[in-house]
Parts: sequence; structure tokens; C-alpha cells
Amino acid sequence: MTVIKAALLGFGTVGEGVYTAIQTHQSHLKKILGAEVEIVAILIRDKNKERLVDSKIRVTTDFQEIINIPDLHVIFEAIVGEEPGHTYLQQAIDKGIHVITANKVMFSKHGEQLIERSQKENVKIGFEATTAGGVPIIRTIQQLLQVNQIKKIQGILNGTSNFILTEMRNRKLCFEDALELAQEKGYAEADPTNDISGKDAFCKLMILSQLVFGEQPNWNEVEIEGITSITQEQIAEAEKRGQRFKHIAEITRVGNAIKASIQPIIVDTDHSLYPIEGVDNAIAIEASLVGKITLQGPGAGKLPTASAMIEDFVYIFQQAPIQEKILEYQSL
Ligand code: NAP
Ligand code: HSE
Repeated sequence: MTVIKAALLGFGTVGEGVYTAIQTHQSHLKKILGAEVEIVAILIRDKNKERLVDSKIRVTTDFQEIINIPDLHVIFEAIVGEEPGHTYLQQAIDKGIHVITANKVMFSKHGEQLIERSQKENVKIGFEATTAGGVPIIRTIQQLLQVNQIKKIQGILNGTSNFILTEMRNRKLCFEDALELAQEKGYAEADPTNDISGKDAFCKLMILSQLVFGEQPNWNEVEIEGITSITQEQIAEAEKRGQRFKHIAEITRVGNAIKASIQPIIVDTDHSLYPIEGVDNAIAIEASLVGKITLQGPGAGKLPTASAMIEDFVYIFQQAPIQEKILEYQSL
């Protein structure tokens, strides 16, 4: 049986999710790929943390040990921040290793350059998990809306913010308790500043902008507001009027300019994002032929994010030239 050798960068919420998804879906993966998927190495930062992983897997803090594994086919990147993720993925691409990333801070800034580099090296890069967790928004735009011209996107792009606003309204939790719960559930980043300040939704909106318009607006001109100033009283007042606070990211092309904003908005019941609750994200797309479509689903968390990464993985390895590459390795 052919073996696809994979390494995980990061073994937190997302890395563990990918590990679990591969273990629990191994026979299905074998069936659809005709190959066994073997996780051969995991990169972490803290060697002292206990990890429940197969003893055959190399667990290391040294990326060079991973990049030098001779027949590594794919790297799943789920670490935090712009660096060292960017440098690691460049090195992987240069070695002909496919990469799949969940790291939106890194990808919003370096995505275009990494895509160009991967095209030159004839490797694939998957980034579905960077935007809206388990919702397949990237591939929907890339593959299912190729002819449609997208005019506007409006979305709830941060699961933690939506979860906090929902918990503050439904269960009357204070902001701090709702955030703590989002952290316990693995929705929030280890440092949740980006989640609650709107910066996380901003990174995702910039990734969508690059995909849809082929460019991003000037980052300094994007209005970014988070949810930290919204009080329980304001939420309750809005509810009495039949309205809800939603943290909404919006991007549209006006002439040659791209206009983007991320801010809390009070919406009425007839707004398409009004019913989006808890950790769910939703993206409403207005396109030239189809009109308006809305995709909704879990925007954060272990298995939804792993789902996005594993679907990228299968898509990449279903491409014929890559199958040939595995066979090449096999015959070495
Ligand atoms: P996490 O739980 O904090 O885990 C991060 C993992 O990365 C940990 O295993 C950590 O090592 C490792 N790590 C961090 N910096 C490292 C470095 N410099 N070198 C080597 N290892 C390093 O984070 P997470 O929630 O899994 O998120 C991972 C990435 O996915 C982030 O970029 C995040 O924005 C993105 N993401 C998260 C979600 C979600 O729902 N959580 C969804 C979509 C995308 P130690 O274990 O040793 O500390
Ligand atoms: N912290 C992020 C969120 C994870 O809450 O949406 C998914 O990108």
C-alpha cells in the first residue's frame, strides 16, 4: 500500500484535531486516496507537555528535523503568528512538500507570495482552514463561483465573538465569563486579543479579498472595531426591539476601490446574519449570476477546523501528478 507521509506543525486545538481526524478516518482515506496516511513527525514548542501520540511519531521542537525527513509529502501548519510559520512554509514549498495551513495571521500577509512560490515549485497549498473554520468558503469561491463576478461579501468571520455575543444575550453571561467559555471550548486563540478586537476577522476578510478581487485594500484604511465595548444592557435593549448585535465583516468593490469594514452592527430579524448563533460563522456572497447565497457552519473548534484541513489534503492528493509523485517515491 502506498504511504503518504505527513507532518504536523503544532499540536494544540487544531493540530490535535488533524491527528484525530486522520486516525479516525484512516480506512475512509485509504478508500478514497488508495494510500495510507502516516503522521511521521510533530513540531511543538514545549517538550515538557504530555502528548497522547503514537510512540513511533517523532515529536520535536526542531523544524530542521522535520524538513529533512527524506520522503515527506505534506505539512499541516497549525502554529501561531506570522513567524516562524511563514519561513517554515517557504522552506517546505522549496523542498517540493505540499502545505496546508490554518494560520490566518500569516496567510493574510504572505498568502499571495506563498501561492506564487508553490506554483513555481509545482506544489499545492491549501488554506481553507484560515477562514471561517469548517465552512468550505474558500473552495466554494475557487471552484464553484468561477464565472460569477462577486460584488460583495458580508460575513460573521469570528466564532469567538459570535459565541460571546450569543452567550451574553441568551444566558446573560458577562463578557469575561463568555470569553472564558470560548477559550475552554478551543474557539478562542491562546491570546484572544485578535478575536475580540476584530483583528482576526480582518485577517480572514483580507484572505477573502485576495481570493475574490485579486488584491487587498490598504490595511490602514480598513475600519476595524471589535466587540469589547458592547454592554449587556445594550444587548438587552436591542433584544427588546427584536434586534441583535452581530460582528460583521464586509467587503465590496466600488469602482476601482475595495472598501472593507469590520464592526458590530445591530441587525433586524430580516437580516441574513440575524439567525447566526454561537460559534457559527456565515458568509453571504452577492454574485452576478447566482444572486445572493449564504454559507453557514462552525467557525472555530478542533474538529470543524480539522475538517477543513483534511478536505484540503484529500483534494490535493486526488490530483493526478501528485499521485505520480508518491509512486516515484515508492520506487526509490
Ligand atoms: P493552540 O491551541 O495555541 O496550539 C498551537 C500549537 O502550536 C501548540 O502545539 C504549540 O506548541 C505550537 N506552537 C506555537 N508556536 C510555535 C513555534 N514557534 N514553534 C513550534 N510550535 C509552536 O492554537 P490552535 O487553536 O490550535 O491554532 C493554531 C493555528 O490555527 C493558529 O494560527 C490559529 O489562528 C489557527 N486556527 C485556529 C482555529 C481554532 O478553532 N482554534 C481555527 C482556525 C484556525 P506547544 O503545544 O508546545 O505549546
Ligand atoms: N479564534 C478563531 C475564531 C478561530 O474564534 O473564529 C477560527 O479561526
